[in-house]
Amino acid sequence: MDIKYIFDRNKAWVQNKLSTDSNYFSDLSKGQNPDILYIGCSDSRVTAEELMGVAPGEVFVHRNIANMVPNTDLSAMSVIDYAVLHLKVKHVVVCGHYFCGGVKAAMRSQDLGILNPWLRNIRDVYRTHREELNAINDEEERYKRLVELNVQEQCINVVKTAEVQRAFRGRGITVHGWVFDIHSGKLIDLKIDFSKIMDEVREIYRLE
Ligand code: CO
Repeated sequence: MDIKYIFDRNKAWVQNKLSTDSNYFSDLSKGQNPDILYIGCSDSRVTAEELMGVAPGEVFVHRNIANMVPNTDLSAMSVIDYAVLHLKVKHVVVCGHYFCGGVKAAMRSQDLGILNPWLRNIRDVYRTHREELNAINDEEERYKRLVELNVQEQCINVVKTAEVQRAFRGRGITVHGWVFDIHSGKLIDLKIDFSKIMDEVREIYRLE
């Protein structure tokens, strides 16, 4: 792709926005008040705003390889802190996706250099749920289930943070686990029992 093409597209986008609302950008520059923090995968096919049909300003977004929330990752932890404490989002969403290269890589026995410590977090998810996963004979189905279980475990990591625990007690913030099915374009709600997870997590990880 010619990079110049991007600037041409940007010019067309600005014109398009201004044609329907001449104050669009001046309004946007006044600040943000998103209700949702979205944590998703960096995969180029899994956009955040577009697949949810939302506009700029509506969702605070964090993306990394395989939508991870490692407890020592300064970037993910800073995003959660800012979104929950300062933007006061009402919902935190962890959105995984089928056909995730990061999850697939974690199912292989291969040295991937700097990616090893990152992907090891997914291997830990596999280990935690290995009985269920090993009972699935079809490799594709096992891989899809690992995508779902990884979302569930990252939701648990979100709940482990003091900010989310305090916001749950103080103003009823909720955490959701979703999967984007690239094959159909549909978002699937994994219907993770957030209150149950909160109770279980707080038994050991209570910080407030
Ligand atoms: Co991915």
